[in-house]
Amino acid sequence: MNVCVIGSGGREHALCFKLKQSLKLKKLYCMPGNAGTEEISTNLNIDISNFEKVYEKIKEHQIDLVIVGPEIPLVHGIVDFLEDKKIRVFGPNKKAAQLEGSKIFMKDMCKKFSIPSAKFCEVRSIQEAEETLKNFQEPIVVKSDGLAAGKGVTICETKEKALEDIKGILSGKFSTSSRVIIEEFLKGEEASYFVITDGKNFKQIGTAQDHKRIGENDTGLNTGGMGAYSPSLIIDKPVEEKIINKIIQPTIQGMAKLGCKYKGILYAGLMIDNGEPKLIEYNIRFGDPECQVLMLRLEDDLIDLIQNCIDEKFNNNELKWSKNPCVTIVAASKGYPEKFEKLKEIKNLPKNEKKYEQIFHAGTIKKDEKIFSNGGRVLNSTVSMKDLRTARDRALDLLDKIEWENKYYRRDICWRAIK
Ligand code: AMP
Ligand code: GLY
Repeated sequence: MNVCVIGSGGREHALCFKLKQSLKLKKLYCMPGNAGTEEISTNLNIDISNFEKVYEKIKEHQIDLVIVGPEIPLVHGIVDFLEDKKIRVFGPNKKAAQLEGSKIFMKDMCKKFSIPSAKFCEVRSIQEAEETLKNFQEPIVVKSDGLAAGKGVTICETKEKALEDIKGILSGKFSTSSRVIIEEFLKGEEASYFVITDGKNFKQIGTAQDHKRIGENDTGLNTGGMGAYSPSLIIDKPVEEKIINKIIQPTIQGMAKLGCKYKGILYAGLMIDNGEPKLIEYNIRFGDPECQVLMLRLEDDLIDLIQNCIDEKFNNNELKWSKNPCVTIVAASKGYPEKFEKLKEIKNLPKNEKKYEQIFHAGTIKKDEKIFSNGGRVLNSTVSMKDLRTARDRALDLLDKIEWENKYYRRDICWRAIK
């Protein structure tokens, strides 16, 4: 069958890499893709926010299955749009996508179905915020309701700083929403738990931990993620059982009860403290860069898995995973997540010939047979080996050899797991 992946990040390159291994695949497309996806698929360079254009391309290339990578088109209803036109598409519909698209929707759902999560309150004015803050201890978490590319959450050491951030959100700092919530600060270690669900049943599709901060020792500004590893070491069997029983199952059942049946990848961002998981947030798609480590470890056929999900035909079999752990290190343009320069030539890229080690591309572009940086996060050096230390050494070695004027990456990814 002909398959098209929508998106242009490292996540989408990793999905393309995994789809290429399927015997069911005839032709692979990526919309709009990057220089990495161009090597293994056909890039369709269009604006993916224009759903009519997306549909035109799907018809033109006789695409049988569409897989949506990023959250923005999902929240804007690309699945509903394409399903209306009888296109087979993988991902949650617009109603279900509110789990990521609206933090207030997600928190209300947690409350309704008793899913463990931080205490929260929506506030509609500064006066209300001042009153509400009396019931919260510092540090205080302030969140904008809508999508904000990772910038919608601040952890405030003082109530004054919280009020300042609340003011900003109420006055329209984020175009997606001016609704705001105040949340209790959760202590513990963060981990990600991924399932794929057909709306009734689900399969675990890996665990991972990522590093959100730009600097080594997890310091500096928050980013989309500077590296990740899988599996997560803090999600052992007892913790996993709690995640499933207290968080995942009630969510899948709860969403169905709310009339928002959830189909697709469900990514739970968790805080785990003393073996007790609490839900920080839901994402409605694979994480980036977490997807990169999961796709290198997954041994099942991704097309089969997605087809069975769409057709609501999940059985109880667990997915097969490589025993070897996997690490990905993100190489970014120096200056990211603030100001950085683009269009720096990248030389000496390895050939991506081995299944257990891949340089997945994110912000890259090919011009005149040369490859240039074209974004903040640019490459993901992803390696699966017998242990995390060996894998990380190899991933660093691959990046060290790449010549590119502005490359920046952390050398300490998975430090918690490599003591
Ligand atoms: P989010 O955009 O919801 O993923 O939040 C971004 C990051 O903020 C999370 O990965 C956590 O590190 C942190 N965070 C969000 N909510 C809380 C909370 N209630 N307590 C502690 N940290 C939080
Ligand atoms: N790596 C975090 C995310 O994809 O949301």
